[in-house]
Amino acid sequence: MGAGTPLFPEAASTLATRVDALYFFLVGITVFFSVLIAGLIVYYAIKFRRRLPREIGQPIHTNYTLEIAWTVLPFLLTMVIFVWGATIFFAMSRPPDETLNVYVVGKQWMWKFQHLDGQREIGELHVPVGRDIKLIATSEDVIHSFFVPAFRVKHDVIPGRYVSVWFHATKPGRYRIFCAEYCGTKHSGMTGQVVVMDAPEYQAWLSGGVSQQTLSQEGQQLFSDLACNTCHRADLQGRGPMLEGVFGHEVTLQSGQTLIADEGYVRESILNPAAKIVAGYQPIMPTFQGQVSEEQLLALVEYVKSLPAPKPGS
Ligand code: CUA
Repeated sequence: MGAGTPLFPEAASTLATRVDALYFFLVGITVFFSVLIAGLIVYYAIKFRRRLPREIGQPIHTNYTLEIAWTVLPFLLTMVIFVWGATIFFAMSRPPDETLNVYVVGKQWMWKFQHLDGQREIGELHVPVGRDIKLIATSEDVIHSFFVPAFRVKHDVIPGRYVSVWFHATKPGRYRIFCAEYCGTKHSGMTGQVVVMDAPEYQAWLSGGVSQQTLSQEGQQLFSDLACNTCHRADLQGRGPMLEGVFGHEVTLQSGQTLIADEGYVRESILNPAAKIVAGYQPIMPTFQGQVSEEQLLALVEYVKSLPAPKPGS
């Protein structure tokens, strides 16, 4: 809708049409009531104007039907807006189960992308059309906001935390990325493009780069370079918990608390190991704060993610 009008960004994702529909509904309601109220003010001002200098106004009698109508109708309307808006909000904030994941790191003043196959990009993100794409984003300095108007997605990208943004692009093309949170001198220049390609073109792009390690292979390399594997291994007397099959599953902490191991948990356990000690282990792990970059953290997270659960009995 509104394609070709410079006032409107293109609609190029499944969410875009839904967001637009709600937006136009809100604008419609606003215009309708603004015109109605302004019109009535003018109309009654003229109709009930003072005709004689000594005229006294009529006493006002309560009209219950009118009172109830203008209480109930706006209530119903706001409920429609609430339910409609909440539905879209949930659709936006819950990525589908099967997604193609790409990591994003925001930094003054650029967007860096890390594909699971190992490709890295700065300022450009190549994705296939017609797939559910999930971006797992963080910042290495200040708060940024990842904004692609054509997809109607915008999410703050916060240092020290992973946030996820998902979209399903509906047509190939190039779409602008903006930073929507003031983040310093060159905030306005912190832009980029999402390049949406059809499947064969995307395959060609994927295989085009120099043969690299995948992100989890890179993580595996780091895991041994940083000597993580001297403690997180099966044959030692269990100095550190085994990481196989941990990701996405429940972990019980020393405090008795349980949590689901997600990206944020893995990250915290690397940078601030004492924060959440797994039940049955000692807080002996040193911090890796300052020793691993955001990109290396992503590789480690991806490596932990890739570790399959051990087979029962082994
Ligand atoms: Cu990054 Cu504004």
